Amino acid sequence: MSNYETILVEKRGRVALITINRPEKLNALGAKVHEEGVAALEELRNDSEIGCVVITGSGEKSFIAGADISEFAGKSAAEQRDVMNARSLFNSIDQFPKPVIAMINGFCLGGGCELALACDIRTASEKARFSQPEINLGIMPGGGGTQRLTRLIGEGRAMEMILTGDMIDAVTAHKFGLVNHVFAPEELEEKTFELANKIAEKAPIALQMCKEAVKFASRSNLDEGLRREVDLFAICFSTEDKEEGVSAFLEKRKPNFKGK
Ligand code: COA
Repeated sequence: MSNYETILVEKRGRVALITINRPEKLNALGAKVHEEGVAALEELRNDSEIGCVVITGSGEKSFIAGADISEFAGKSAAEQRDVMNARSLFNSIDQFPKPVIAMINGFCLGGGCELALACDIRTASEKARFSQPEINLGIMPGGGGTQRLTRLIGEGRAMEMILTGDMIDAVTAHKFGLVNHVFAPEELEEKTFELANKIAEKAPIALQMCKEAVKFASRSNLDEGLRREVDLFAICFSTEDKEEGVSAFLEKRKPNFKGK
């Protein structure tokens, strides 16, 4: 893997860990983090040894405390629109073919919450705090917050978070369905990696088809979604891994998937 300035990338077996590494700025998402995060995902996309990616923040305090507010100062509307339309980490995660887990170890605010929302699964420490505080800066979420948060937790809850900018704690986030699991801070990494390893062992092409199908559910009507599901299901039948999975079941042994 390449070396980056604002992120760390580590491979642990079939799981890659990307750590946003600006702890002195509570891992705020500047343009460089987006650029390097996108580049790291491009490397991991083509790495057949990696089946799942975990994203977290450096230090004890923060996952990601939002967009880097210092980069907003003095920007014109046209300039900021270009920034948002450039290849963002949010879109790269959303379109990444392998599962991505956000491991939320602290403040998960603004663009940090939007990044977590772009991931497929979210685990959180009991210490994590969540908000969309853009309203307090006189702006609004622009990295998918109004769309993905609303789809995930429902209009009323999303509306309250976005209109007030208030923080919610991890237990509330779990109750809302914003995170899948809440763990004690000292267990967060171990439990998240248990989950990531379990996923990373599955058949890679089937994982990719599952992710695409589930994501399509909130982007289509039911008939289109059901048709897409059948197509993706049929693609699984073109893989060697389908033969291996079925044979392993019938022979009462563990499958050995190859991603083919
Ligand atoms: N962008 C740029 N810098 C940020 C930042 C952000 N989103 N969030 C925190 N920082 C910086 C602070 O400016 C400070 O830098 P400094 O030491 O050079 O002054 C450093 O990170 C530590 O933050 P600090 O505010 O001192 O920590 P705290 O524990 O008192 O407060 C927060 C923590 C998260 C409540 C507070 O930092 C905050 O409100 N951050 C902004 C959150 C936000 O609005 N995000 C959405 C942006 S659209």
